Amino acid sequence: MQTLDTIRHRPWRQVEAPDEVLSLGGMISPQERSLLYWLAREYTSGAGAIVDAGCFLGASTAALAAGLRDCPRNSRTRPLIFSYDRFEAEPYMIEAGWFPDLQAGDSFRARFEATARAFDAPVTVCAGDILTHGWEGGPIEILFLDILKTSEINDHVAREFLPHLIPGRSVIIQQDYAWGELPWIHVTMERLASSLPIVDWLPWSSTVHAMTRPLPSGFLGTGYGDLDADEKLKLMDGAIARWSGEERGRLECSKAALLLELEGWDAARDQLEVVRAAYPRSEVIEVCASNIEAYGRPELDTVRAELDTVRVELECRSADLAQAGAEIDQARVELERRHDELGAAMKAREHAERELASTDATLRALQSSRLMRSTQPLRRLYYRLRGTR
Ligand SMILES: C[S@@+](CC[C@H](N)C(=O)[O-])C[C@H]1O[C@@H](n2cnc3c(N)ncnc32)[C@H](O)[C@@H]1O
Repeated sequence: MQTLDTIRHRPWRQVEAPDEVLSLGGMISPQERSLLYWLAREYTSGAGAIVDAGCFLGASTAALAAGLRDCPRNSRTRPLIFSYDRFEAEPYMIEAGWFPDLQAGDSFRARFEATARAFDAPVTVCAGDILTHGWEGGPIEILFLDILKTSEINDHVAREFLPHLIPGRSVIIQQDYAWGELPWIHVTMERLASSLPIVDWLPWSSTVHAMTRPLPSGFLGTGYGDLDADEKLKLMDGAIARWSGEERGRLECSKAALLLELEGWDAARDQLEVVRAAYPRSEVIEVCASNIEAYGRPELDTVRAELDTVRVELECRSADLAQAGAEIDQARVELERRHDELGAAMKAREHAERELASTDATLRALQSSRLMRSTQPLRRLYYRLRGTR
């Protein structure tokens, strides 16, 4: 059996989930699928359940199910997978093209179930808002979290599920740690860092946390909501300090969302300015920063920003107009120059034609006088012969 120590070596990085898992539609990356597959195949011991919170169409559940199916160990210890989702099409899913045939609010549960069936997964489906579900499934060995989209869900999961983790055994995967808009995840995981240290951050996505120790004794299971502003900021700064590069930028962006909640728009705006200046080329950070702006910026500021955009646009257009005017002036000067040249050329032509005509006349006169001269002796002889002269 693999131990928590093995986890530190991140063995999933050398493993690839089967094609049937990699090719499924879903919102998690191939690396995340391979991680879940490895955990189910190599790590699960039967000591607790597997929770897939936020299973969507079933890619994460399928990766776990395929891992259990391919697990070489005794099937009697085969753990159950508990898959949570509302299974309701949301506007962002429809916009992204997941459900061309559904309206917002329609159920996609049938598609999840078809996927789970194909993997013969030992799945218990927990449908509906996770806020309405408590946990009664005993110890949890693997907790995959792709559902902590609000601080309320974060705290609900912290209260209901975290106390069932097994110290020295359990693993949490935080799929949204990489997204720079959900500060409650960074604050909660930093708060629990001594019990659930990070062992991996898969490129662009999930962090993996190994439960090395029991939860801190003072932890009341709320995660985020029971902390005051200073505690939240301190924990957020602690989380940021663990990272460098683009990863750090994502957490700094998340801090802007935290500042928005704690201190209001001006503080968030200042933080966003710093983040954007430091990471100008990160698309993810820009998306997160724009989202924070969209829900954080007061209306007056929004109008001001729109006016600024219009002003910049107008300035660009008037610069274009000035440029076009200069080009027209230049073309006019050129036209006048060509017109003058044409006039001069026509005059020169008229002059040349006159010259030609006078040369012609001179030539003709010359020719006739030469003719007279050359025929004079003959004419004389002719007249003499006729006796007229
Ligand atoms: C990013 S998706 C999960 C992607 C999934 N893990 C995969 O493998 O493709 C997040 C899911 O969380 C679900 N969700 C969000 N809030 C929820 C809530 N309060 N209760 C239940 N499900 C929720 C959504 O329906 C959505 O399917």
